[in-house]
Amino acid sequence: MKELIHRLRETRKLQPDEYKQLLTSLTKEEQEYLFLNAREVAQEQFSNGIFIRGLIELTNYCKNDCYYCGIRRSNDKAQRYRLTKEEVLESCEEGYRLGFRTFVMQGGEDDSYTPRVMVDIIKSIREKYPDCAITLSLGEKDYDTYKQYYDAGANRYLLRHESINAEHYASLHPQGMTIQTRSECLFNLKKIGFQTGSGIMVGSPNQTIDNIVEDILFLEELQPQMIGIGPYLPHKDTPFKDKEKGSLELTLIVVAILRLMHPYALIPSTTALATIADDGRDKGILAGANVVMPNLSPIRFRKKYLLYNDKACMDDEAAESLASLQKRLEKIGYTISYDRGDFRK
Ligand code: 5AD
Repeated sequence: MKELIHRLRETRKLQPDEYKQLLTSLTKEEQEYLFLNAREVAQEQFSNGIFIRGLIELTNYCKNDCYYCGIRRSNDKAQRYRLTKEEVLESCEEGYRLGFRTFVMQGGEDDSYTPRVMVDIIKSIREKYPDCAITLSLGEKDYDTYKQYYDAGANRYLLRHESINAEHYASLHPQGMTIQTRSECLFNLKKIGFQTGSGIMVGSPNQTIDNIVEDILFLEELQPQMIGIGPYLPHKDTPFKDKEKGSLELTLIVVAILRLMHPYALIPSTTALATIADDGRDKGILAGANVVMPNLSPIRFRKKYLLYNDKACMDDEAAESLASLQKRLEKIGYTISYDRGDFRK
């Protein structure tokens, strides 16, 4: 196993069955060795700095009906909200004051944010904060819409592929959503020039280890600049409410493998990791993650943006959460980096 880990670190590539071995057959000690190698690779690129991104949850309206997600269209218990441009700009202002230099606007697929409306919001942020990166995470759009976002000043786009296996993808999403469309969106984003992020939930219902291997191979082909990996967590008002949550351990192994394959990638220690265990966020960093995304949304909206149950850090003011993040990072030998944190090779 150690030979496999070394070879993955050296060549950034293994055979499919070798990924499978890492995903299924590591002893505790070998897992620790995998994590050690992954964090060494991250430290070679990023030293002990952890980039921060201010997350602004733009809207929890969504036209999609993904079986796993708490803001799916059919969840009539969700209290829906939309942020106005003014509310977005206020969140940015608070974030900028605290030192954030990346703003991530994430939301459901909400067509009331037409290309015109989004371009106006993006341009306003771009104008007011020329030194900041603007990241979008707003789902599937056509090429022209993505291009308009980019030309308005957005730099990065997050769109997890969720599963590259057509059958598995279809079991997570209702008819009408396909992995072909998803994958086309991702290649369009890259072509336009976005720093592009993708990824999966680990332990999503019906996912097999072979599916995860396929996802690892897809990410190798896509070469995303950002990779988001979190455990699946159930939400009580979805069809998947009774499905098991994903495994913390397996999530960390996937993060570490991807770090060894993608030394330069920006890999967050996700909110889902922070939710599944008190020290989940620390463990993600110790398995090779180098980004944290604190919540900048106005607190009154946060309880409404629930993709899964028991979401972590819901009541922290951004300022408090940064202070407590810094403390926690220091305990494991890391520190907040206030750089904009673009992808660099
Ligand atoms: N558990 C964990 N992650 C989830 N996401 C959506 N619903 C859940 C859930 N129940 C993830 C998806 C999506 C990202 C924004 O959040 O992977 O791409």
